Amino acid sequence: MRTTLLDLRRMKAAGRRIPMLTAYDYPSARIADRAGVPLLLVGDSLGMVVHGHDTTLPVSLDDMVRHAAAVVRGAENALVISDLPFLTYASADDAVVAARRLMQEAKVQAVKLEGGARVAPIVEHLTQFGVPVMGHLGFTPQSQHTLGVRVQAKEAACARRLIEDALALEAAGAFAVVLELVPAELAAEVTKRLRVPTIGIGAGAGCDGQVQVWHDLLGLFETSPRHAKRYAEIGAAIESAIRAYASDVGDGLFPTSAQSSKMDADELARALA
Ligand code: KIV
Repeated sequence: MRTTLLDLRRMKAAGRRIPMLTAYDYPSARIADRAGVPLLLVGDSLGMVVHGHDTTLPVSLDDMVRHAAAVVRGAENALVISDLPFLTYASADDAVVAARRLMQEAKVQAVKLEGGARVAPIVEHLTQFGVPVMGHLGFTPQSQHTLGVRVQAKEAACARRLIEDALALEAAGAFAVVLELVPAELAAEVTKRLRVPTIGIGAGAGCDGQVQVWHDLLGLFETSPRHAKRYAEIGAAIESAIRAYASDVGDGLFPTSAQSSKMDADELARALA
């Protein structure tokens, strides 16, 4: 059964922590779904970890639709949320176009956008038309040139604004709020004040849930951000498998008869006659 927004409220009420993971394609979605992760985020981080850009800004709506559709095909039970990419929700009309494509073409169940009180009218507009919206506060990567990649809201005035932003998103109808790179004490306080769940990344253990980027969690790259825990070293495992394959090909050890098919000798002789 696919995770619903009601399930998330119930998990928060029951104090059950909510795991969320990014996914960008069919196999990653399938594996995470089979592992029981209830929320999958098609993050615009795909611009960095899949497409190799240095920010999320070059990601287009077409990119998101293509990747999100593949994730949806791989996810039987998880609720799939897609980021609205940079500047696709600068107006309510733009946001409707982006959300329509993601929900109708890619068939995601929800969208996520970055910002607080400033985007609350957009959140309200979308939710009124039945689009479930997740908010995103703290370090918001689409504003990375303005904010810098660092922990946000460490000073009282910024912390107060973040709390107000979170309340504004909730009042506008957001069903959950991501808190990225926020001091743990502040994230815990926001979590207490909101009725909807908070999902942290680099925001301490006091959030209702946690989100991690697939590549960070699985050790695909040589380094991961400080807030990530490497649960496996898949990058190294893949590299050593590929080295073994390349070396076997070089040494004539692959393929063997086990990976080959045979032809009847008479048929071959007739073919060559
Ligand atoms: O794009 C993304 O992966 C995200 C998460 C880091 C929350 O927004």
